[in-house]
Amino acid sequence: MHDYQLVDGDTTVYRDGSIKLHTPEGFEGMRKAGRLAAEILDACVELVKPGVTTGSIDDAVRGMMLDAGAVPATLGYRGYAHSSCISINHVICHGIPGDKVLKDGDILNIDVTPLVDGWHGDTSRMFYAGEPSLKAKKLVEVTYECLMLGIAAAQPGARLGDIGAAIEAHASQFRYSVVREFCGHGLGKLFHDAPEVIHAARAGTGPELRPGMFFTIEPMINLGKPWAKVLGDGWTAVTRDKSLSAQFEHSIAITETGNEIFTKSPTGRDCPPYV
Ligand code: MF3
Ligand code: CO
Ligand code: CO
Repeated sequence: MHDYQLVDGDTTVYRDGSIKLHTPEGFEGMRKAGRLAAEILDACVELVKPGVTTGSIDDAVRGMMLDAGAVPATLGYRGYAHSSCISINHVICHGIPGDKVLKDGDILNIDVTPLVDGWHGDTSRMFYAGEPSLKAKKLVEVTYECLMLGIAAAQPGARLGDIGAAIEAHASQFRYSVVREFCGHGLGKLFHDAPEVIHAARAGTGPELRPGMFFTIEPMINLGKPWAKVLGDGWTAVTRDKSLSAQFEHSIAITETGNEIFTKSPTGRDCPPYV
């Protein structure tokens, strides 16, 4: 079955497949990391506009992390050399920042993970460059609803599969599809840990959700078919049919009474339009 391990501030943790259960110390650490991650995405609202490069946004993200005494957890992670992932239009996730120039109508995801005092705050949001099509904006809105419905299903005593069931039920109402190749994940002192959070799952399946669990929910929703492929750079994941894709991500905890979102925007800018 599933192994659970109690983790406090002094515990050395390993990727041994166990699901970690955290103490108030972990909650404090994740609140700090999550808040910084959310503040950085808040600041990205001002940076995203037609004409700017994704590399310039990545530079700004790195600057904000270092200024705050944090380290970008993605920098050097499995050979990844950047401080964020920026995924535009049909890019599902893990878009590499660089010379690419944003153009009017683009939808993009910015995903950041500052490491603060040993804790990982992992979050992403969609942004609009200029004015996207109605179709694109609808996909973005529904994807945010999918994330929040997944979070609502993340309750103590529920099963992990209840989250993916809630997400898929909502996406399929709009004839959108849910990407299967990439999942949410346990996190805390580790960036990517057990359990794997599947975004299209069967209700009532998977490990029981217990207070003290920390994990991300990060549904990727496509306008077309669910199929993904990774480009030759080894990172950029795109829709095979080139249809638009959207994603939002929060880092959350299961609590005694429900859940806590560590990465909520302190200014209410969790989803566009950011007015
Ligand atoms: N932040 C991503 C996630 O949500 C992970 C990016 S790993 C990278 O899990 F190396 F691509 F940056
Ligand atoms: Co993540
Ligand atoms: Co992320």
